[in-house]
Formats: sequence, structure tokens, C-alpha cells
Amino acid sequence: MKNRLTYAMIGGGIDANIGQVHRRAIALDSRAQLVAGALSSTADKSIASAKALGLDPDRSYSNYQQLLEQESKRPDRVDFVSIVTPNDTHYPIAKLALEHGFHVVLDKPATQSSAQARELEELADSKALVCCVTYNYTGYPMIRQARAMVHDGTLGTIRKVFLEYHQGWLASDLASTGHKQASWRADPARAGLGGALGDIGTHAENLISFVTRLEPESLYAKLNSFVPGRTLDDDASVMINYHGGAHGVLTASQICIGQANGISLRIYGDQGSLEWYQEAANDLRVTMLGANTVTYTRGGPDVHSDAVISSHTPPGHPEGYLEAFSNIYRGAIDAIIAQNDGVHESRLAQLATRMDAGTQGVRFIELCVESAKKNAQINWA
Ligand SMILES: NC(=O)c1ccc[n+]([C@@H]2O[C@H](COP(=O)([O-])OP(=O)(O)OC[C@H]3O[C@@H](n4cnc5c(N)ncnc54)[C@H](O)[C@@H]3O)[C@@H](O)[C@H]2O)c1
Repeated sequence: MKNRLTYAMIGGGIDANIGQVHRRAIALDSRAQLVAGALSSTADKSIASAKALGLDPDRSYSNYQQLLEQESKRPDRVDFVSIVTPNDTHYPIAKLALEHGFHVVLDKPATQSSAQARELEELADSKALVCCVTYNYTGYPMIRQARAMVHDGTLGTIRKVFLEYHQGWLASDLASTGHKQASWRADPARAGLGGALGDIGTHAENLISFVTRLEPESLYAKLNSFVPGRTLDDDASVMINYHGGAHGVLTASQICIGQANGISLRIYGDQGSLEWYQEAANDLRVTMLGANTVTYTRGGPDVHSDAVISSHTPPGHPEGYLEAFSNIYRGAIDAIIAQNDGVHESRLAQLATRMDAGTQGVRFIELCVESAKKNAQINWA
């Protein structure tokens, strides 16, 4: 059995934002090695970026078509492709990668329409390939603890969920200054239907789904574009009704001056509640009806096995974003090995976020935009 994989990265060039985070997250576990890349939107920058990363010139490609074509013919072809390009390119790149028989790890939002996402899901299934989406916040050990506690009924029947994802970096018209990341995010042709909604709201939707496994029944969304001239939303408030009667309030906003990546999750059941804040990611506060608040800590004596296997360092040493991100890749790599070798998937692989979650995330964006336009509650169908 092959335990160490190789991968190619598409996007993530010299001046890119999230690609280097993916590379570091993968490197944390030494389970996959970067050996090929088409790292940028121009040939010159792709080659220069590959050189800076020390890639073999033979496997430093000018564009993704060349990479997929040439890698597919090599006996030592890469095992999977990590796609970290702007949103509008996810679908064509992922489609071509799957068609060439590569497993795929794709950043969010998975695609620009749910029809595209479903197509990728079906394509991956039909070719027995793994396609994971990097909803990286699901990788935190204490998020996995929360998921286990909701599932085992500790909180009772879930009544109310609050999820906030707040940033302040787009509180002014950064796109007009030529800022790379702000520019494509402000362009509907590149970003897709959602602004803050697509960029971080999709993480928020996924985090609720991952932890609670509640199924949305309907939603009502209010989208604002506070910064003059901005066409996409920079602030989203969404109320979600779930099957079974639970109610969710999700806010995703990029105009919250003072917030960098303020993510909080609070869940209230009829027997107890839990709360988690990304800035204190190693802690999960749990309060049972009529009792004092208890803090579960990562690595503590009574945490769930899903949290234990998701931990990297001994208790007391703070873990964070990179370790959580690496858990997505640990799961994806285990899933790929299981798929290739016909072995049972590990628990980490079972916790990995797959393309069905990617499709749900894109559907969420579509329904919120429809709801906001109609100023009406929309059934989730
Ligand atoms: N999971 C997360 O938390 C998270 C965080 C930030 C961004 N993202 C997502 O990651 C993606 C990239 O975002 P970013 O902020 O890094 O953007 P970015 O603009 O910083 O980087 C994009 C990179 O892709 C390259 N690129 C563009 N078109 C390409 C093509 N056709 N072929 C090869 N390379 C190409 C660019 O040259 C650049 O290197 C987006 O989909 C975004 O939503 C996810």
C-alpha cells in the first residue's frame, strides 16, 4: 500500500493567498509531496512560482491543461490535484482533472452553480475518484467534539443555532486600489453570485451542517452591499428553518471593522448548549440545563475520539488554523488511499468534507440570492 502520495497544485503562485496555506497544511503531516504545479494564471509567473518552490522544471507547467495532459501520461503521475484558483476556474479545472483520472481537492465555493457542482460530484463518483472540498473549519478538534456531542444527544433536541463569520478587510473599496484578492472577489464574473455570502457564508453554512447534521428546509436572506459601487453583497444575514423545527441564524460579513476572522458557533438544545470561538479554538464551552458551564479542552481526558485523532500536539500546547486545515488533507489523503487500494476508509477520511457538501454550499448561495431578490422565504429544494 502506498502511504505517501504526490500532488500537483493549480493556483497558489508567488503572490497568491491561500495556496501557501494548503501547502503548509499538507506538509504538516508529510503524507503528500508537491511534485508538480501550474501555479499561476500566466505562464511566466507559473514557471517562476514553480522555481521558487524548487519543483522539477519538467513538472513545472505553464497552464493547467498542460499539467493535466502531461501528468496523466507519466508512469509516476501525481495522485491528486489541489485546486486553489479563483472561483470561476474551479469547475473547468476540476472537471478536466477528474476526466484525466486525478483525485481532486478543491477550495470553496466549489463552483459557480449547483448544476456544475452536481456534475463534478457525479463525475467523481462515476470514475471512483475522491473529490473533497476544503471546508477547513471542520478540521478543528473541538468542532469535531461539538459534532459528536450534538450527535450523541448531549444537548437534547436542537432548537437554535447561531453562526457568525465576520471580517473587516472589505469595509472600504479595496478592489479599486487594485488589491489582487479584493479585485476578483468584487467581480461577479469571477466570484460568482455571492460576495461575503460566497466567500465566507459558504464556510458558515457548512460548519452548521457539519456539526449539527440538521437539514435545511427553508431560508430567508437579507444581503447588503454597504460599500458604494460594490455589486456583490458584503454583508449577509440568513435565517434558516431546519427539518425537525430547529432554527438557525447565520451572519457572514466583510465590513466588520476590527474583526479579522471572527467565527463563533453557538448551539442551544432543550437539555444544554455549546459555544465555540475560533480565537479560542482549543476550548469548547458546554452548559447543561441548570448546571454550571464546563470547558472541554483539546487533549483533555474526556474528549471524543474524533477530537483525539484530529489533534496534532500534546494537551496544553495551542493548536490552530494550520492543524485544522491539515486535518482536511489527512482525511482526503486517507480517502484517496482507501479508494486506490480498496481498503476501509479511516475515521479521518469519513470526516473529510466531500463534494456533496460542496454542492450544498453552492445551492445555499443560490437560494440566499434568490431569497434576497424576492424578499421572501425560499424552500430548500
Ligand atoms: N478555505 C479557505 O478558508 C479559503 C481562504 C481563502 C481563499 N479560499 C478560496 O481559494 C481560492 C483562491 O483564493 P485566493 O485568495 O488564494 O486567491 P488569489 O488571487 O490570492 O490566488 C489565486 C491564484 O490562482 C492563480 N490562478 C488564477 N487562474 C489560474 C489558472 N487558470 N491556472 C492556474 N492558476 C491560476 C493566480 O495566479 C493566483 O496564483 C478561491 O476559490 C477562494 O474562495 C479559501
